[in-house]
Amino acid sequence: MTNPTLMSVNDVRKSFATLRGPLKAVDGVSFSINPGETLALVGESGSGKSTLAMILLGLIAADSGILAFDGSAATPIADRAHRRPDQGLGIVFQNPHSSLNPRMKVRSLVAEPLRASSNLSGNALADRVITLLEQVGLGRQHMERYPHELSGGQMQRVAIARALALEPKLLILDEPTAALDVSVRMQTLKLLKSLQEHHGTSYLYITHDLGTVDYIADRIIVMYLGRIVESGRVEDVFAAPKHPYTRALLDAVPTLDPRSRGVFVTLEGEIPSPVNRPSGCSFAPRCRWKTGRCDEIDPALVVANPGRGFACHHPLASVPDELDR
Ligand SMILES: Nc1ncnc2c1ncn2[C@@H]1O[C@H](COP(=O)(O)OP(=O)(O)OP(=O)(O)O)[C@@H](O)[C@H]1O
Ligand SMILES: [Mg+2]
Repeated sequence: MTNPTLMSVNDVRKSFATLRGPLKAVDGVSFSINPGETLALVGESGSGKSTLAMILLGLIAADSGILAFDGSAATPIADRAHRRPDQGLGIVFQNPHSSLNPRMKVRSLVAEPLRASSNLSGNALADRVITLLEQVGLGRQHMERYPHELSGGQMQRVAIARALALEPKLLILDEPTAALDVSVRMQTLKLLKSLQEHHGTSYLYITHDLGTVDYIADRIIVMYLGRIVESGRVEDVFAAPKHPYTRALLDAVPTLDPRSRGVFVTLEGEIPSPVNRPSGCSFAPRCRWKTGRCDEIDPALVVANPGRGFACHHPLASVPDELDR
């Protein structure tokens, strides 16, 4: 039987040494991504999303964890660090102003990854650059421009073209539209979606913007203080979130209709410091439904039928009348 999973990661952990003690940025995270699907990774600032992305790319070393990618055997993730990132993996960062070298023209920016990893040169290389630019809605006329001669949305298109140059099987999108004008955010997401339909690339879509998740993603994982607190198919999680944290994130999105979910939940208080993690459930200090048990016992992530999981002692019922216990 063939394994349909493109990437699976198991129990990834990463602590940073800080003056106040070890900071557990990623604290036992496991998930998988299938070919051609988009997995959204959401959570407030500081929940460990970018750290996880950097680990997957091999750009920072994890303390522990197992990773299997693209048919290769599962190996300790620590062995990957400081290696050249895998050919099959690409990244688009939040801010194209800082991810694109301002001294390079678009032509060279897009050619750079091809020069490093393919035998293309001369006209063949130029043709490939033009094809890539056309795929992202740019053209020959942009080749001789520098990044500052492009709009933010155009720059991000160049960053996407660069990332696609090596035909990655998995593209990590770390808040790809957060630095863009609201008016071009949706266009950029549309572009990403149509590129995915064309190339079959899988996406790990990191975002604060839950309003875009149901447009682009198939499944979602919600992180809080370095851990997954809820996961599942987007339609299931959005229709009936089980974790109060997910509920609060969803209720904060103006474009999603909270009526179907009954009472409205707001997120109060600050995310606790990952250095002084509360005992018991990390979300308890902010949770309106917490009980004594939540202060004492850390709830484990219980994963049921395909990927639907939550870490909560008192998961929200899906029947609206029962929500306001
Ligand atoms: N190099 C580092 N040294 C020390 N602490 C770090 C380092 N990198 C990240 N952290 C800490 O790890 C935690 C997770 O950070 P990370 O950048 O992964 O969060 P994030 O979910 O991507 O946040 P954002 O949504 O703001 O991008 C934070 O508490 C952050 O301060
Ligand atoms: Mg981040």
